[in-house]
Amino acid sequence: MRTGFSLLTVKMSEDTYIPMWLLAELTYACPVQCPYCSNPLQISASRKQELSTEEWFKVLSQARKLGAVQLGFSGGEPLLRQDLVDLLREANRLGFYTNLITSAIGLDAEKIAEFKEAGLGHIQISFQGADEATNKRFGGTDSFKQKMTMTREVIRQGLPLGLNFVLHRHNLHQVTQFLTMAEELGAEFVELANTQYYGWAKHNQEHLLPSKAQLEQAELATNEFRQKHTGSMDIFFVAPDYYDDRPKKCSNGWATTLMNVTPEGDVLPCHAAKMIPGVAFPNVRKQALDEIWHSSDLFNKFRGTEWMVEPCASCPEKEQDLGGCRCQALMLTGDAANADPVCSLSPHHDKVRSITEKAQRPFNPEEPVPLLFRNMKNAKQFLTE
Ligand code: FES
Repeated sequence: MRTGFSLLTVKMSEDTYIPMWLLAELTYACPVQCPYCSNPLQISASRKQELSTEEWFKVLSQARKLGAVQLGFSGGEPLLRQDLVDLLREANRLGFYTNLITSAIGLDAEKIAEFKEAGLGHIQISFQGADEATNKRFGGTDSFKQKMTMTREVIRQGLPLGLNFVLHRHNLHQVTQFLTMAEELGAEFVELANTQYYGWAKHNQEHLLPSKAQLEQAELATNEFRQKHTGSMDIFFVAPDYYDDRPKKCSNGWATTLMNVTPEGDVLPCHAAKMIPGVAFPNVRKQALDEIWHSSDLFNKFRGTEWMVEPCASCPEKEQDLGGCRCQALMLTGDAANADPVCSLSPHHDKVRSITEKAQRPFNPEEPVPLLFRNMKNAKQFLTE
């Protein structure tokens, strides 16, 4: 383990990896009830265990010393933290570039001004649909007007703005509508993020996963929009893993770039790692981030390529995808050390195929959608299991 590690002398000689990106999940409380949320199913209604302001200050300082430069405040809904402006100010003082990832529920012009003054780098507002009815149907709240008003206010106050639209079977057809809206509003970038199947999304997968035809149509519409609209808005289309034949490097590779700190202070190499069995989860209340990053069992468990089993171990592409997603391997094969079954070379690839086969039914806007929404009432059943 390194000691005497200073901000200006970040070296890569002893340890190749530096946690450049810190994701601070400030709270799991949330006014939105997205059925595709990647938060764990076991969310507690109690906020008593959340890290205090002082504890977060310590986390930020330790992360910055380790080399973190990008800081995302997310949740749940980070606006529910009364100390958000203090955390932003401290992050700015430490030299982070900050991003606030929010539903915009609870946001107002005064807060935007405060956040800007505190040094917020940019704000990302999520939409659940490109119109009022779809947004309400998949967010469980009547928030479309508030999102539109706050989006305009962010622009008016000159804060860089990104819009996020999580895509699934029931809103993929709205891609052009959403891009048109984002352009008219003046967004700097748009992220069209196909649902990734963890937490609540995995639970609701059968009703969320689109068919391949839907996905291709949405990509086509996105590319057509790009060709016709050559303005300054960047558009990112994040494809769902399930339709690829090679996995992506998850979180840029396990414990290579990302440190995710949960509301209660657990430190994870990805947002879903709490599902990994048989390993202790390090916590900032008990250990320093430096020690967690370099020496904890969790962070070292799947770092690099030494842990790999076949077919990954002898695969010529292993450095490119680092075996894909450990959490996905666990969910679909029962063992996190297996190759991500998205890979067509995985002996478990049939598991992905059998899931996608069921999704090929034609999209019918009238089909019943019995989704389990992410709220405390629904979470109770998982807390008692
Ligand atoms: Fe955990 Fe991919 S989400 S490794």
